[in-house]
Amino acid sequence: MYVCICRAVTEKEVAEVVDAGARTVDDVGERCGAGTGCGSCKERICAILDEAAKSSGRILFRAAS
Ligand code: FES
Repeated sequence: MYVCICRAVTEKEVAEVVDAGARTVDDVGERCGAGTGCGSCKERICAILDEAAKSSGRILFRAAS
């Protein structure tokens, strides 16, 4: 399923870059392009980051938008 329509990035691709070390929406954008177009998918990217942080016990820090 696509998370980012603008850049044709799937949920699996976002999960892979998070697994590889992306910790912010900007990190995700730099690594796979998701969220670098219209920005409407950023909330979903945040949710994926939140889920990954919770499952790994990390504390998530977000930049103010
Ligand atoms: S849907 Fe992701 S930037 Fe537009």
